[in-house]
Amino acid sequence: MIKLVAALSLAALVAGCSGVDPNSPAGKRHAAYEKVGAANKALGKVFEAPTPDLAAAAEPIATLKAQAAVLPSLFPAGSGPESGQKTEALPAIWSDPAGFSTAMNNFTGAVAKLDAAHAAGDLAATKAAAADLGKTCKACHTKYRKKD
Ligand code: HEC
Repeated sequence: MIKLVAALSLAALVAGCSGVDPNSPAGKRHAAYEKVGAANKALGKVFEAPTPDLAAAAEPIATLKAQAAVLPSLFPAGSGPESGQKTEALPAIWSDPAGFSTAMNNFTGAVAKLDAAHAAGDLAATKAAAADLGKTCKACHTKYRKKD
């Protein structure tokens, strides 16, 4: 158990999650986006295969759905850089709430589309929806996430 905890905190350090209270909104965002990032990667792998296995997409899609359900609530006022927590969230999130909300809705909408296409067993539509989802990550990061 102690070993597991050590391994987990090491993983957190490697992922750049140090310097943040895991219970703060910023800490919860880091954790949520780490899962989103991993699920998105796993999804990319599924569709890189010569013969994509739709069943293998089920788990990453379930993760994306779960995170899409909580992420919109993880940006309360005051949880930006001024919170003192380590965060890559830009002040524009709060100064441009309509723009940010559109970017968030595009993301949650893309996840819903992906989920529906997958549930219908439609390989081509699922692949296309996964590609569309990727565009929503980029669109939001460009405007609302600090670059290193
Ligand atoms: C609506 C805006 C938005 C969308 C859509 C979005 N992100 Fe992000 N993402 C952010 C913000 C803001 C941060 C920085 C959060 C912080 O540091 O407080 C972030 C951080 C991250 C991180 C770094 C996590 C960490 O702290 O270690 C990863 C990885 C990531 N996003 C992946 C993705 C992927 C993959 C997608 C699409 C499937 C995506 N994001 C969609 C806004 C977004």
